[in-house]
Amino acid sequence: SMNEAIIDFSIAATHGGSILLSEVNYLNSKPLDRKRILITGGAGFVGSHLTDKLMMDGHEVTVVDNFFTGRKRNVEHWIGHENFELINHDVVEPLYIEVDQIYHLASPASPPNYMYNPIKTLKTNTIGTLNMLGLAKRVGARLLLASTSEVYGDPEVHPQNEEYWGHVNPIGPRACYDEGKRVAETMCYAYMKQEGVEVRVARIFNTFGSRMHMNDGRVVSNFILQALQGEPLTVYGSGSQTRAFQYVSDLVNGLVLLMNSNISSPVNLGNPEEHTILEFARLIKSLVVSQSQIQFLPEAQDDPQRRRPDIRKAKMMLGWEPVVPLEEGLNKTIQYFSRELEHQANNQYIPKPKAARMKKGRPRHN
Ligand SMILES: NC(=O)c1ccc[n+]([C@@H]2O[C@H](COP(=O)([O-])OP(=O)(O)OC[C@H]3O[C@@H](n4cnc5c(N)ncnc54)[C@H](O)[C@@H]3O)[C@@H](O)[C@H]2O)c1
Repeated sequence: SMNEAIIDFSIAATHGGSILLSEVNYLNSKPLDRKRILITGGAGFVGSHLTDKLMMDGHEVTVVDNFFTGRKRNVEHWIGHENFELINHDVVEPLYIEVDQIYHLASPASPPNYMYNPIKTLKTNTIGTLNMLGLAKRVGARLLLASTSEVYGDPEVHPQNEEYWGHVNPIGPRACYDEGKRVAETMCYAYMKQEGVEVRVARIFNTFGSRMHMNDGRVVSNFILQALQGEPLTVYGSGSQTRAFQYVSDLVNGLVLLMNSNISSPVNLGNPEEHTILEFARLIKSLVVSQSQIQFLPEAQDDPQRRRPDIRKAKMMLGWEPVVPLEEGLNKTIQYFSRELEHQANNQYIPKPKAARMKKGRPRHN
């Protein structure tokens, strides 16, 4: 299928594999409804897969990214293509370009990344979103905000549907992200009501796949790394806590469907299929064919309660639901991680010791 092609292609392309340019050009020569599309955060995990899909569909794609957590490597296979542009730009600064649609994804997304500089996270989600809504208003573009299940906070209802207002601590360590996204949603609807800007809001739940960040401490990435490196898979507590993950190609399809729908209210995009942590550990261990042990450690404090999406709205109004089986998604992710580990091993920069430079007779401490 189309999706299959994109994912496999992306793995090959980001690892020096050859690109079937003829195929890409062929697909790009017959766009039905070519649009000029801006993707903020397009060099990140989700954004780069979205870039692949929209490029393959024949659109003109401009990626704007400040490379805080994104990488040029994620989109390098498009550099030089006539429909593609990559701009090194921070959304906290205004941007003036002509586009028809804006996918606004720019924001650090995992706890270690968004807690690294909470003020910057707030600026990106507030000023950055205002800037993109201002752009949408000026050029008459439609804007889709990549919001998050974190707007539901530590939820008091299961599963969460879009009507739920959430349970967020406004001064906790996650607030810079949770509240940043909540006010970003508020801004979308203010621009819609006051200025007539067309907005779409996707509340994205946990997502995994190739190009995800390997070291941000998430369950799936931790287990895959541990299994590949022959280290014990660390399970905190009994392992009976559950998690639900969607594969990135499912999410990307949902984002595009939502953007092109007429639904302006928020829509959950996630996979409601829950698995216990222990199930994840066993499955990943067997898929990697790893000799690793499963090691049980004391329960982590503040281990998030279950969070599971209610996706009835997306099903009913977009005809969308996740279709990639967990095993298939895991296999692709494992393949990506193992190539990444190889790449890192081959590209380690080992600085050679240099004689200290002298300035006014004293060694410089640099
Ligand atoms: N991955 C998930 O499970 C998940 C879940 C919920 C929501 N989301 C949302 O989806 C979006 C994409 O997440 P991701 O997982 O791809 O994360 P990511 O970190 O891989 O991508 C975010 C991108 O935004 C860029 N960026 C950050 N600040 C910027 C700024 N000020 N200006 C320009 N670019 C900036 C980063 O460099 C990166 O390329 C985010 O908005 C995130 O909040 C993701």
